[in-house]
Amino acid sequence: MVIPSLIQHKRDGHALRPRDWAELIAAYTAGRVPDYQMSALLMAVYFHGLTPEELAALTDAMIASGDRLGFEGLGLPVADKHSTGGVGDKVSLLLAPMVASCGVAVPMMSGRGLGHTGGTLDKLEAIPGFRTGLTLREARAQIERIGCAMLGQSPEIAPADRKLYALRDVTATVESIPLIAASIMSKKLAEGLGGLVLDVKTGSGAFLPQPERAIALARTMIELGEARGCPTVALLTAMDRPLGRACGHTLEVEEAIEGLRGGGPTDLMEVTYALGVEMLTLVGAAGDAAEARERLLESVRSGRTLERFARVIEAQGGNPAVVEDPAILAQAGAVEVYRAPRGGVVSGVEPRRIGRAILELGGGRVTMEDRIDHTVGFVITVKPGDRVRRGDPIASIFARDADGVVTGETALREAITIGEEGRLLPLITHRIAAGGVAPVAAV
Ligand code: URA
Repeated sequence: MVIPSLIQHKRDGHALRPRDWAELIAAYTAGRVPDYQMSALLMAVYFHGLTPEELAALTDAMIASGDRLGFEGLGLPVADKHSTGGVGDKVSLLLAPMVASCGVAVPMMSGRGLGHTGGTLDKLEAIPGFRTGLTLREARAQIERIGCAMLGQSPEIAPADRKLYALRDVTATVESIPLIAASIMSKKLAEGLGGLVLDVKTGSGAFLPQPERAIALARTMIELGEARGCPTVALLTAMDRPLGRACGHTLEVEEAIEGLRGGGPTDLMEVTYALGVEMLTLVGAAGDAAEARERLLESVRSGRTLERFARVIEAQGGNPAVVEDPAILAQAGAVEVYRAPRGGVVSGVEPRRIGRAILELGGGRVTMEDRIDHTVGFVITVKPGDRVRRGDPIASIFARDADGVVTGETALREAITIGEEGRLLPLITHRIAAGGVAPVAAV
């Protein structure tokens, strides 16, 4: 295998053979292909895409780069959810304990921040002591005990994706349907699931803003899943504004706990319940959507979900008291209220600008080695379409210091635009399954 020839072939718009993908991914995982060559190849894929055969070969090679989690003999259905990434998307923190407390095992395997989007692992690590680096053996033992583990992609699961994901993050090669599909599906299929629910984001803050491309991504992932024996369903959800109010790791953990205590912003809770309904019905843990929703609501009302989250936190080395008192989380050094600079109607709350601002405040990675500050971020209390008066408090900035507050103010001035009118995408627009794409009634 001559790597420059493969890069050249792909650069010129030709397909690589399945054997090439298998060898290349094995060699890259073993450290025999340098990042600079892989970066060049990723950029070629970004521009030319992959044929279905190439995508299947790449995904299989990424799965084969590691081990698989097996759940034979567990006696429970097993399901997981994955989001294509957004700003303020803390759904996994709520959904994993919620679904687990309804009798479905959830090996919630998540990623770190990617581009302007936040990652569930980074959010969980805002809880002091929380260990996301479980081995597969530890994850399986924890799932047997409490039905849920929230883990990072261990070195054993799709290690090729782990390396490629970090490389794509810093080489502007994230926004590609085949690369996203192979990345998500390789780690999910290695989990040995009975069902997978995908939250595919659309709108300006999504990696693929146009709904047609988001639907194409969903269909691509569903095909990969179904062809490998994993029933897969996707919901298309809005990312033209942040989900919920909190954006930033600690702030999002606090908002997730609020949701598990029966509060939480309506949009966040709606998306969480809708995905939960899909998870329960997909693996047969509920007869229909109405029953599934009622079980999820009841598990929150009764406190079982919160208790399950506390058990997961404790099992993974964190302080479970955080679910009773989120204020024990480390807090930002400087907090400032942001007021509407003029009256009118909020015309936009741009998620990309908010995500980038969190990076600028120190809450994300610019290079693969960066350490992040969990405490920084924003709480934004307006959505497009809301009417505001000049001077109304519409957000709070959480920064390390006064300079960070200034950075945050600049970002909010650019992200939150106020004009004459504002429109929101419907929160959930489509349900996509092996059988096709169906519109979802507005919520
Ligand atoms: N989430 C992933 O796991 N991979 C991607 O490429 C994008 C979002």
